[in-house]
Amino acid sequence: MALFRLSPPSESATFVRGEGVFLRPPEMRDFDAWAGLRERSRAFLTPWEPTWPGDDLTRASFRRRLRRHQQEIENDEAYPFLVFRDDESLLGGLTLGQVKRGVVQAATLGYWIGAPHAGKGYMSRAVRAVIGFAFGALRLHRIEASCLPHNVASTRLLERAGFQREGYARAYLRINGAWQDHLLYALLETDPPPPPLVRRE
Ligand SMILES: CC(C)(COP(=O)(O)OP(=O)(O)OC[C@H]1O[C@@H](n2cnc3c(N)ncnc32)[C@H](O)[C@@H]1OP(=O)(O)O)[C@@H](O)C(=O)NCCC(=O)NCCS
Repeated sequence: MALFRLSPPSESATFVRGEGVFLRPPEMRDFDAWAGLRERSRAFLTPWEPTWPGDDLTRASFRRRLRRHQQEIENDEAYPFLVFRDDESLLGGLTLGQVKRGVVQAATLGYWIGAPHAGKGYMSRAVRAVIGFAFGALRLHRIEASCLPHNVASTRLLERAGFQREGYARAYLRINGAWQDHLLYALLETDPPPPPLVRRE
């Protein structure tokens, strides 16, 4: 796809609206809110994520991250988003990464929510919105996701959004400093849409 793109995607091309939430790629002005939320959520997130580099929450590291993101978006390799509530407060992050074109037409979904915002249905709303973006704007055929077998919130979120469990991969990802087995999930463009969410707040 990127081969045929004549100019970088416009901002509106990577703006995704959901129910009560919106998603857009991170920008430098998000640094304070992002670093603050990640720091407040450290204990909540670290069991489920790759080990954070020592300088992860610094402004310099965030700037490097944004440069990488911009390149990835331009190359049609990954679509990183921050998730905001409609009042513009930062809730978390979500990435459609490892975009594969050609005969595959798939991407890998990853996400996190800030600890103060967990369990309120926000990530379910963000994921549902990004499914529309992936199958619509990006014209993907398949969205893949994987999670630790004991990550009840994540498996529940995926299953309620219509993802189907397809497998079990041994020592699949290095999470929190150890190679860990993962459940593999996928959603196809042709799968039935998920039922509407019941509003919790
Ligand atoms: C997974 C995660 C993103 C879910 O975000 P969230 O906004 O809290 O999710 P939602 O509120 O939309 O809930 C999704 C489902 O999980 C359930 N759930 C949420 N937190 C739960 C918990 N702690 N225990 C059990 N179920 C939980 C919800 O009830 C909901 O199911 P339902 O629709 O049947 O009611 C969040 O828990 C998180 O960031 N966890 C740490 C990082 C992580 O696990 N990332 C994903 C790695 S694969």
